[in-house]
Amino acid sequence: MEVIITDTKNQAEEIVAKIIQSQVNAKNNSLLGLATGRTMESVYSQLINFHKANELSFSSTSTVNLDEYVGLAPTHDQSYRYYMNDKLFNHVDINLENTHLPNGLAEDIPAECKKYEDKINSLGGIDLQLLGIGTDGHIGFNEPGSSLASRTRIKTLTKETIEQNGPIFGANEDVPKHALTMGVGTIMDAHKVVLLATGESKAKIVADAVEGPITAWVTASILQMHPSTIIVLDQESAANLKNRDYYKWAYENKPDWQKHY
Ligand code: F6R
Repeated sequence: MEVIITDTKNQAEEIVAKIIQSQVNAKNNSLLGLATGRTMESVYSQLINFHKANELSFSSTSTVNLDEYVGLAPTHDQSYRYYMNDKLFNHVDINLENTHLPNGLAEDIPAECKKYEDKINSLGGIDLQLLGIGTDGHIGFNEPGSSLASRTRIKTLTKETIEQNGPIFGANEDVPKHALTMGVGTIMDAHKVVLLATGESKAKIVADAVEGPITAWVTASILQMHPSTIIVLDQESAANLKNRDYYKWAYENKPDWQKHY
C-alpha cells in the first residue's frame, strides 16, 4: 500500500486524474472501475480537461461502476448512472455502450448481481479501480460487517451513510435504503486500486483503514492486503496518520521507474 499525501485537495485530485490518464494512455482498452460521490467530481472535471486538450481518449475504454441505488431509474438525477453521464461520460469520447452500472431497477436482483460479475469477467477484469471512502469505512457500498470476500450483491445502507448522502438528496428520507454494490472481493480482484480521500471528515476513518487492524468493520482496511493500492490524501484527510513522515519520505524518494505518471 502506497500513501501519497499532498499539500492541497486540488493536488490530490490531480494526481488521481493523472494516474487514470496514464492507465488509459498505456492501455486504451482498459477496463476502469469507477466511483461516484462528491470526492470524485473534480477528478472527472480534470479528465474532461485532459480530453479537451487532446491528451486523453476513452474511445476504446470500458467502465464498470461500483454501485447503484435500488429503485432509482437511470433518469433520476440522484442515480449513479445519471451522475456518471452528467459528470464524465457526456463530455468525453467514450461509447456509452461500454459503460456499465448495476441495474437498480432489476426485478431479479441476485440474477442482476451475477450478470454484473460475469460482465466484469468477460471484459477481462478491472485494470484500475477508483475508490472513495465513506465515513464508516465503506468502499463501494460495502458497509461495516460486509464479508471481506463478498461479490456483487444488495446491501442495506447504514444510517450513517444515509445521513452522509442526505444533503445530496435534499433529505435523509429520500435516500434509498438499499444499493447494489460490487463486493469487497470483487474490488480486491482489480489489478490496481486508487483510493482518494479529502477533507477532515475522512481523517479518522482513513487512519483506521490505513493503519488500523484489517477488519470487516472497516471494509477499506482490506486494501492493506492488496498488492497494488495507492491511497491519495490531502493534509486534512491524512491528519490522523501516525506514519505521515515516512509516507512523504518514501514518495519523495521514489525511484523514477516506479512513478505512476
Ligand atoms: C460511490 C461509492 C462510495 C463513495 C463514498 C464517499 O460510488 O462507492 O463508497 O465513494 O461514500 O462519498 P463522498 O465522496 O461523497 O464522500
